[in-house]
Amino acid sequence: MQRLYKGDPLTPGEREELEDDLIAFCDRELDLLGNIRDLDVLYAGGSSPLWIEGLSQRIGEGGSVTAIDMDAERVDETQASIGEAGFVAPVLILAGDVFGLSFASGTFDLVYSSGLFHELDVKERTAEDALAALCSVARPGGRVATGDFVDSEEAVQLEDERLEAELRREAYASQPYGIGAPEGLVGLHNELLTNLRWQVFPPQRIRHLGKLVLAEDEPTELSSLPPATARRIRESLDAMRTRILGEGYTRPATVYIEGLVQSA
Ligand SMILES: C[S@@+](CC[C@H](N)C(=O)[O-])C[C@H]1O[C@@H](n2cnc3c(N)ncnc32)[C@H](O)[C@@H]1O
Repeated sequence: MQRLYKGDPLTPGEREELEDDLIAFCDRELDLLGNIRDLDVLYAGGSSPLWIEGLSQRIGEGGSVTAIDMDAERVDETQASIGEAGFVAPVLILAGDVFGLSFASGTFDLVYSSGLFHELDVKERTAEDALAALCSVARPGGRVATGDFVDSEEAVQLEDERLEAELRREAYASQPYGIGAPEGLVGLHNELLTNLRWQVFPPQRIRHLGKLVLAEDEPTELSSLPPATARRIRESLDAMRTRILGEGYTRPATVYIEGLVQSA
């Protein structure tokens, strides 16, 4: 039986180790941006306080962070959790869709996303449309940078993400872009940016993530799906749990891509 520590499946020591690893992963990804001091930055498709704080510290008081996430609940949670906590750079966190950005063109020095592309719903619009929207709000000569998971190494998290995508397709008729080979995202960026550079980085372990996944409740969407579909997804979830017990929650590699928006 699972023992809970004040409702948390992790012990305080495990929680600390998990948080240390999440910070290390965030630092590794944000360090790839290099010097971002004094820049006005759009953080697209994210509202995690950890990432926003990391950006704000690197930018300093001479620039700003604007974060936009279509998950209004996450945005509210982040706004509530940061409360009065002061950031170094001014921070604005907004609920919104990257396909419908309302900023004037050329507003930002840097437009950055991490983990946005694999979650994009590309049923009605394409990933190219999303990238074009991001490029349009970067100033001419400004930078667009993307980090995301790639499938170049097999990992339990890839199976988890595939199941999540299947659930979204079945329950909401959405079509997540998903996690593919690095060349897919690189090709996309190559069409719209100049001076492109990119690199794949090895998976970075996050201790105790598997324990958290194993403690998750069954997705509520399953109960509204046709029985045969729900059964298929339940079987896949069980197979993934067995895999986690055997090999842990192994993580995917990541790709980092950046390029410049052509000057007018
Ligand atoms: C894997 S999470 C990114 C985690 C990120 N590192 C953070 O700081 O939150 C992907 C995020 O993209 C957001 N997202 C997906 N599609 C979006 C869209 N069309 N417009 C804005 N945000 C979107 C989701 O709501 C989710 O918060």
